Amino acid sequence: THVVTENCIKCKFTDCVDVCPVDCFREGPNFLVIDPDECIDCAVCIPECPANAIFAEEDVPQDQMKFIALNAELSPTFKSISRSKKPLEDADNWNGVPDKLKHLER
Ligand code: F3S
Repeated sequence: THVVTENCIKCKFTDCVDVCPVDCFREGPNFLVIDPDECIDCAVCIPECPANAIFAEEDVPQDQMKFIALNAELSPTFKSISRSKKPLEDADNWNGVPDKLKHLER
């Protein structure tokens, strides 16, 4: 599967969802996840993310490993999203800010 990691939080650019052939993205208030049961590992979303937040599971950086479980945990509660929308206000200012996990809204 592919995994959305920390830098998506408070950005949520949503460019990723437009290219997903199986609509496997799920949307929370300030973060997206990938449903691991739906993702077909096509990888087309990776270069679309302006925050570089998406990785193949085997490429997830060491300090982001907890996001593998978090994508699986949040997928059933977040809502399906298949069309991009406006990024969150201030997305550009939050892009690259470290330690955003504490800002995750569920
Ligand atoms: Fe998040 Fe990047 Fe998609 S910031 S919403 S994973 S384009």
